[in-house]
Amino acid sequence: MSGLYDSFQRPINYLRISITDRCNLRCIYCMPVEGITSIPHDQILRYEEIYLVAQAAAKLGINKLRLTGGEPLIRSHLVTLVEMLAGIEGIDDIALTTNGVLLKHYAFDLKQAGLKRVNISIDSLQERKFHRITRVGTMNDVLEGMSAAHQAGLEPVKVNTVILRGVNDDEIIDFAQKTIDEGWHVRFIELIPIGQGQRRKWFMPISEIRARIEELGMLEPCPLSGNGPAKYFRLPDSRGTVGFISPVTEHICIRCNRLRLTADGKLRPCLLSDEEIDLREPLRRGVSSEQICHLIREAVAAKPQGHQLAKGITSKKQAMAQIGG
Ligand code: 5AD
Ligand code: SF4
Repeated sequence: MSGLYDSFQRPINYLRISITDRCNLRCIYCMPVEGITSIPHDQILRYEEIYLVAQAAAKLGINKLRLTGGEPLIRSHLVTLVEMLAGIEGIDDIALTTNGVLLKHYAFDLKQAGLKRVNISIDSLQERKFHRITRVGTMNDVLEGMSAAHQAGLEPVKVNTVILRGVNDDEIIDFAQKTIDEGWHVRFIELIPIGQGQRRKWFMPISEIRARIEELGMLEPCPLSGNGPAKYFRLPDSRGTVGFISPVTEHICIRCNRLRLTADGKLRPCLLSDEEIDLREPLRRGVSSEQICHLIREAVAAKPQGHQLAKGITSKKQAMAQIGG
């Protein structure tokens, strides 16, 4: 077998790179209102260091990268990083997960630098509620970011929506309707119990979300599913797709294909386990690319078979932004 495989024969071809733990929003299920203690600047990986990790990963068979945060667009010169990463042999897909607030300013330059596509997080289509969820955000900025992404050709633009019972579950149908009316690709995500997301009253299982959407019509499975944890469907007569991501209620770990690099330079075998392998110290010691490859292999070998949420075990981090959502 060529390429990277973990101990459970899962192919690992995808690296998610968090480039900052900071964010310009304060979503109620993610950040406490006062924010989180940010990682000091000198502990954040520099772009050259991220490049070295991505280059070593590509040698081992990683061919997809995603930049996440916090909010990646608040880090300066992101376009330069994309350009650097796009030049690595073996990398054929670079994507970005963003809250979209600043996207209109960068969409074209990012595309030119080699970014392929974006996922935009939108949890409400109502301006007042959008502000209630994000505490500081303006929905119109995000919608403008979304149209800039389309104009720049960052396709497919996917929308990530975390459903919170009693907060935005009344908008499930509105989001699903967007796949019919405007061709949106909307992915409904179960709330993961990390940090503020541990409020059980907010949790709504995908089965319930799906049942609400089926009021609009039959969901036809899409043959073209992505390589990630989402399962995709189409409503009758829709150009867009409905995706479901159910990390809590379904065994999505079976299809896990990823490693994560945190903003402070730790390789994280699993989102939901706090085991990490430090790369920053070795990088700053000037280790060789072979040694970075060795540490990446170690992280792949350390991937657990699945998460332990059913046993009440989750990450002890304060927020998803500290790991990379
Ligand atoms: N559960 C599920 N998704 C979350 N995100 C942040 N916190 C959580 C959580 N507890 C999502 C954001 C964004 C992505 C980066 O991670 O909404 O779409
Ligand atoms: Fe920022 Fe994303 Fe967390 Fe919202 S969910 S506060 S946009 S990192």
